[in-house]
Amino acid sequence: MRAGVREQARSPIRGGPEMDISYHETQDRLTSRIRAHKLFGNFDITDWIDDFLGRRPRVNILDLGCGDGNHIDLYLRHAGKTGTVTGADRDAALIARARDRYSDAENLSLHVGSMDEELPFEDGSFDLCMVTFAVYNAKNAEFTLREMHRVLGENGELVMIGPTANNVAELYEFNEKVTGRKADDKTLRRSERIVNEFLPLALGIFGGVQAEVINSVLTFPNRDEFLRYFCSTLLYEEIAEREGLSLDDLKAYCPPSGTMPVSKEMVAVVATKSA
Ligand SMILES: C[S@@+](CC[C@H](N)C(=O)[O-])C[C@H]1O[C@@H](n2cnc3c(N)ncnc32)[C@H](O)[C@@H]1O
Repeated sequence: MRAGVREQARSPIRGGPEMDISYHETQDRLTSRIRAHKLFGNFDITDWIDDFLGRRPRVNILDLGCGDGNHIDLYLRHAGKTGTVTGADRDAALIARARDRYSDAENLSLHVGSMDEELPFEDGSFDLCMVTFAVYNAKNAEFTLREMHRVLGENGELVMIGPTANNVAELYEFNEKVTGRKADDKTLRRSERIVNEFLPLALGIFGGVQAEVINSVLTFPNRDEFLRYFCSTLLYEEIAEREGLSLDDLKAYCPPSGTMPVSKEMVAVVATKSA
């Protein structure tokens, strides 16, 4: 069965407080962070996802906030030839790149669309909805959760993966050392949102909810790699970059040699539609 698709309604968001703390991703920043996670991480979240997907057969998978399709190869493998994978992201440039990357995949459909609006899919279209490092951008957590619940079938599962409040604590410290300013509210809110907001709301909407904290660390081999990562974050963009701090200015605050660790604490919330 192909996942049912319908026009995305431009209707206003219903239910719950609305806010915009979202982050407009650019290809180069996203690519830079994904590269660092693969090269310097002691743990690849892809392995966690691969293991999770293998726990039961997967048929119709939705990847919401899919970006340029970082995990789509994995979803295609688990869905197999008879299943489908659907990716959606609000960023047309990232979707265009995902289309190029997976131009051979016949059972993949990609959509430009926002999780802040009614999802352009029929009720019960998917058995799995994955939202990796994206759901905390939603304007209205309850609205987005209800939409994801709606497009899941009877025994469907939702997986939301993202940071905890302890994620990248070293980057916040570095930012404060360099700029004398604390991280902006938007960045802090986003890093706490899955645990503080989505998890409690999911308990009221879904039949069963479990959360797992995933610990990992990025060990940068030198200050150049540390700064390359730092400069690909919103934290840098919102504070140090706006203050006109150059890479050389930042270098002066790093040890000239030696490794630089950054903790990457994540949480995976798994919500099942039925109890
Ligand atoms: C950090 S990237 C993660 C991409 C991918 N899921 C991954 O794990 O590599 C966050 C993505 O969420 C998307 N995004 C942000 N707000 C969104 C929204 N309201 N609706 C749909 N996508 C959104 C961004 O465009 C971006 O591609």
